Amino acid sequence: MELTLDTPLDLHLHLREQEMLSLVAPFSAAQFAGGVIMPNLVQPVDNLERLRAYRKEILAACGDLPFTPYMTLFFRRYSRNELLEARDEIIGVKLYPAGITTQSEGGVRDFDRIGDTIALLEELDIPLLVHGETNGFVMDREHEFLPVYQWLAETFPRLRIVMEHITTAEAVALLDRFDHLAATVTLHHLMITLDDVAGGLLQPDLFCKPIAKTPRDREALRRAVFSGHPRLFFGSDSAPHPRHKKECCGCAAGIFSAPVALPMLAQLFEENDCLERLDGFISVNGRNFYRITPLPRQVALERIPWQVPEQFETVRSFLSGKTLSWRLKNQPETTGNH
Ligand code: NCD
Ligand code: ZN
Repeated sequence: MELTLDTPLDLHLHLREQEMLSLVAPFSAAQFAGGVIMPNLVQPVDNLERLRAYRKEILAACGDLPFTPYMTLFFRRYSRNELLEARDEIIGVKLYPAGITTQSEGGVRDFDRIGDTIALLEELDIPLLVHGETNGFVMDREHEFLPVYQWLAETFPRLRIVMEHITTAEAVALLDRFDHLAATVTLHHLMITLDDVAGGLLQPDLFCKPIAKTPRDREALRRAVFSGHPRLFFGSDSAPHPRHKKECCGCAAGIFSAPVALPMLAQLFEENDCLERLDGFISVNGRNFYRITPLPRQVALERIPWQVPEQFETVRSFLSGKTLSWRLKNQPETTGNH
């Protein structure tokens, strides 16, 4: 049995640079027609020159696979001219509160000082993508950030805002109050709770920001996604770190889910009797909100059990060692080992 997906997109993706980029980009490019590329490199992507160079590097790493990198700039205070010049080459600007996650030290420290730049984004119709967490208690960070989303949505009524990787029932509820608000949801937040991370033996592979929440939150996310909410779309937040940065004292935050993203999503939607809604989540909803027209690309899965390799060179993947019910048709020879 086969399942053909029409132009699937991963609308939140970390591809890194250099060797890591070469290792991970082919997984995304084999499954997706395009992706929204996060700018939190060691030197953040916060000017057009760097963005162009990074885009080239990504295309080179994808080889012959037809993958469109939708680029983002790291939020800082930009001038009107800078944004005007960048507008046609970016899908949005990504805002990180300072120090909240991997490579975000250059993020926003004072939200009272960013209104002028946000107003420019609204005027120029450039979407704002937000990592919405405070530096409060780890389980409450998204909850505490919701007033900022509300302020943004009320103050800038024409600005398209994406709440990235939402994890809570309350964030889902906020979506319904503003039409110009959308959200990405990861694969892992549809699957795991804090119990999977730290309820038994500690699982560094499942440690990410925002941290996985309660069963009730996961249920709210599932309900909204599986019912086909039109302003929820897939963003894997696949964020690879080498094993030595995960399996140590001071584990880096990030789950590398790119190798399993599409097969596992198909399995999840099938198990929840809503396979017909998968296209909306991985393609239509995001295209509509971002108003993009990616090059059409059909991606086929086949129902052949597939055991996820234990690791891919230096990195372990989400669900490593598990057997999934779908696999990518014409799956490229992976370098994984069992
Ligand atoms: C991401 C990373 O490693 O770049 N980590 C994560 O835990 N999700 C950054 C991010 O999106 O927060
Ligand atoms: Zn991310």
